[in-house]
Amino acid sequence: MRPNEINWSQLGFGYMKADWRFRSFWKDGKWDEGGLFDNDRITISEASTSLHYGQQCFEGLKAYTAKDGSIHLFRPDENAKRMQATCDRILMPHYETEKFIEACKQVVKANREWVPPYGYGATLYLRPFLIGIGDNIGVKPAPEFLFSIFCMPVGAYFKAGLAPVKFIVTDYDRAAPNGTGAAKVGGNYAGSLLPHEIAAKQGYADCIYLDPATHTKIEEVGAANFFGITKDGVFVTPKSPSILPSITKLSLIQIARDYLGMKVEERDVLIDNLDEFAEAGACGTAAVITPIASITHKGKEKIFFSETEVGPVTRKLYDTLTGIQFGEIEAPKGWIFEVE
Ligand SMILES: Cc1ncc(COP(=O)(O)O)c(C=O)c1O
Repeated sequence: MRPNEINWSQLGFGYMKADWRFRSFWKDGKWDEGGLFDNDRITISEASTSLHYGQQCFEGLKAYTAKDGSIHLFRPDENAKRMQATCDRILMPHYETEKFIEACKQVVKANREWVPPYGYGATLYLRPFLIGIGDNIGVKPAPEFLFSIFCMPVGAYFKAGLAPVKFIVTDYDRAAPNGTGAAKVGGNYAGSLLPHEIAAKQGYADCIYLDPATHTKIEEVGAANFFGITKDGVFVTPKSPSILPSITKLSLIQIARDYLGMKVEERDVLIDNLDEFAEAGACGTAAVITPIASITHKGKEKIFFSETEVGPVTRKLYDTLTGIQFGEIEAPKGWIFEVE
């Protein structure tokens, strides 16, 4: 597939091989200069820690074509910082923020033709990852590491786009109380494949994870954070050390407060008290904002605003967030990083 064959309005969230990817290798205590590679295949040691012990992590962010035709990244510094926090948790070396942003820019520029034009709601999804490589067999940090960023054009993550979808609470846990839930390590996602498949077979978009210690509080909506809008208009999102700190959630907190004048609360969201919400949604880079039609728990279905319509506050949050991301609404200082 070449960029000129892509129907930008029909893009889903699927892999596509763009032309260039960035790679940098860490050896003897330092990263090399790094550079662009056209080969999408990687040859690594069969004894890499990333293959055996899950010493690896990833990030996800997007490049947008703005209304004025310029291309920019949305808060890549936050992705760099989150990757560094993940690296601390599983003993991998940091890839420094400035270099991370520069590498993102290089990848976007080199794959310029793959960046969706303005007007289709489509974006260029960037997938940075950092993995342990090199010869090693004991359970210990790798002797070498690879940092890479590849990319592809994407559309909506959930097929429905900005339409409400249904979720079901799973009995499985995605994270242990003091485990790696707040880190973006691949193992968290391996553990989510089965609960996701069970939910999907029952007709749900994904499953909702409760807190692993008490199974009474909402933690994550599949691979997205949860938010609810109370009947009196407060933006509520769960607070927990085992949730991935979503950059979209962080942004929505500021948007709700500063753009929409809403009160914001980060606190426990009890699964038995969903009646406090008039609207609910899932948020993330891939999901953007996905309205939650309903949550099924222990055989009972709680319907939020509507099974088919998007609630007014969710709509406003979505319009403001995407307006900022596509350069239609002025962004808070420091959110937009111009590529060219
Ligand atoms: C488990 C999980 N929660 C939440 C998110 C949303 O985070 P962000 O808004 O930074 O994409 C993601 C996606 O990265 C995720 O994988």
